[in-house]
Amino acid sequence: MKTAVFRKGHFNAAHRLHNKHWSEEKNRDIFGLCNNPGFHGHNYDLYVKVIGEVDPDTGYVIDMKHLSELIHDEIEERFDHKNLNLDTQEFKDLNPTAENICKVIFDILRKKIDPQFDLQIRLYETPRNFVEYPA
Ligand code: NI
Repeated sequence: MKTAVFRKGHFNAAHRLHNKHWSEEKNRDIFGLCNNPGFHGHNYDLYVKVIGEVDPDTGYVIDMKHLSELIHDEIEERFDHKNLNLDTQEFKDLNPTAENICKVIFDILRKKIDPQFDLQIRLYETPRNFVEYPA
């Protein structure tokens, strides 16, 4: 009996979408306002979904306190109030689109969560735009 549990996280961060291999003009054409050289910010909402069997002894899939600490320590501490392009190693050479941020978050958490569990990340960049990985 597989069950999914979810923990919500949140961080505020600035970014600029930019491909350094393209001209300034092409970057403006493709990324529009998101290419603004002075950066812009988002309030990112993060949903971490962990899927597994319910442990008969605890009645839990996973200890939510452990999961919340993991999200806090590994994701929120790392990205909250940061400029993703300038302040983080992860996006030094990776365009910080919602797609790429979602995948980076998955890769960080995947290493910290027991492989017996499936993991899926949903990241809201705005209330209307969100990404899921893996699809
Ligand atoms: Ni943006």
